[in-house]
Amino acid sequence: MAVKTIIGAQWGDEGKGRVVDYLAQQADIVIRFQGGDNAGHTVVIGKAIFKLHLVPSGIFNPKTTNLINTGCVVNPESLLQEIANLEEAGINTTKLFISDRAHVVMPYHRILDGLQETSRHDKAIGTTKRGIGPAYADKAARRGIRMGDLLKPVWLKERLSVALEHANREITHFDGNQISFDAMYEQCQDWGQKLSNRIIDPTIIVRTAYKANKTILLEGQLGAMRDLDWGIYPYVTSSNPTATYALSGAGLPHNALSDVIGVVKAYSTAVGAGPFPTELADSNGEYLRETGNEYGATTGRPRRCGWLDGVAIRHASWLNGFTAIAITKLDVLDDLESMQICTHYRLPNGELVGHMPDTPILETVVPIYETWRGWQQPTTQIREWANLPQNAKHYLKRISELAQAPIIFVSVGAERDSIITIKNIKGK
Ligand code: GDP
Ligand code: IMO
Ligand code: MG
Repeated sequence: MAVKTIIGAQWGDEGKGRVVDYLAQQADIVIRFQGGDNAGHTVVIGKAIFKLHLVPSGIFNPKTTNLINTGCVVNPESLLQEIANLEEAGINTTKLFISDRAHVVMPYHRILDGLQETSRHDKAIGTTKRGIGPAYADKAARRGIRMGDLLKPVWLKERLSVALEHANREITHFDGNQISFDAMYEQCQDWGQKLSNRIIDPTIIVRTAYKANKTILLEGQLGAMRDLDWGIYPYVTSSNPTATYALSGAGLPHNALSDVIGVVKAYSTAVGAGPFPTELADSNGEYLRETGNEYGATTGRPRRCGWLDGVAIRHASWLNGFTAIAITKLDVLDDLESMQICTHYRLPNGELVGHMPDTPILETVVPIYETWRGWQQPTTQIREWANLPQNAKHYLKRISELAQAPIIFVSVGAERDSIITIKNIKGK
């Protein structure tokens, strides 16, 4: 039996999609357990580049079932578009399903996300404007519409009138345009009709697979630093991209999890606002952005780039209980003479801390670095740990030490097979 969850250890965009795709070649089910189409998970297979938003990254394996489960929020319009794009590219999506309990991201959620962001002025969160926050807010306020509701006309009418009344009140507050009930109701029924064969009660397939000892992957969205409870609040997403929530979002018991794989990019990036202590505003930051092609997979925004932040990795490892880590984008560092790793923060009162302070304090910390020598040779063609340059091994082992978990993968290129698989490589 194996239930493995794949979790972002930083600010998102660590390369979760490519790790899930790799592991999915041996998996029976891949489950997205939180988030929505704010995700941009890139999978590169040969010359084809796929950017997935809602569809789990197991979709490229015809034998794998892919499930968008209950902890997610689903924009049916963008899901239908994503399915159409995949089908057009020759990818079979017949084994893609959606939980009847997942909440719907409605058009008014997107509108409200935009209006709320504008009203925050210089304190904007920098959301993806996909309506994620407002959709989860409606879920928590118990006025959300769920995917299963799209298939029940009478119930849907009742639910929609409650939800829309509230949404229109909020839109009025921001001087936006009112949404018509009739148009929205028709739209929902149309989505329901188009997705009816994919909307299912997920309990049956998940439990059956679990009891039959199938391999199940739980695919996280974003990273620990944007966790609603333990991230850099309020510059966070509105769900929990961490391992304990993976079980809840996927409908599995607490003792189901066998592996928690933290995905760690060999340096740091973030899109959106909020504290990012190791951010580089110099030529090193520019080097990482251009060499790593660090532009958002969903919004195309340039990603903020910085050195690896060991304090963030420690925080993520504690929260998630990583049993192993996958380190991505090692090749991006190939040309550097040296790199820095932040191990501690200096607080304004002079105190040195190794843990992650809360947001307002985090904005004032000074990162304390150690310097690591570069290897200055290409790693992209390497497929064995033994063949990696010594300095690369030292750098990777230091990351393992900070994460308190052994390394199982090192990726050295975006392509599916540009990966070194490892057994038992650990830092001290
Ligand atoms: P995710 O959201 O965590 O799935 O990550 P993204 O797909 O948003 O961002 C990761 C980016 O890095 C994508 O463009 C990937 O194709 C690319 N990538 C992943 N692993 C590697 C790697 O080892 N080397 C290089 N050069 N690119 C990689
Ligand atoms: P993947 O899964 C990077 C960021 C946004 C913003 C904050 C809240 O590809 O790693 P939201 O739209 O969720 O309300 O925005 O979170 N954000 C991401 N950053 N990768 C993502 O997804 C992200 N999804 C949201 O930039 O700062
Ligand atoms: Mg991404």
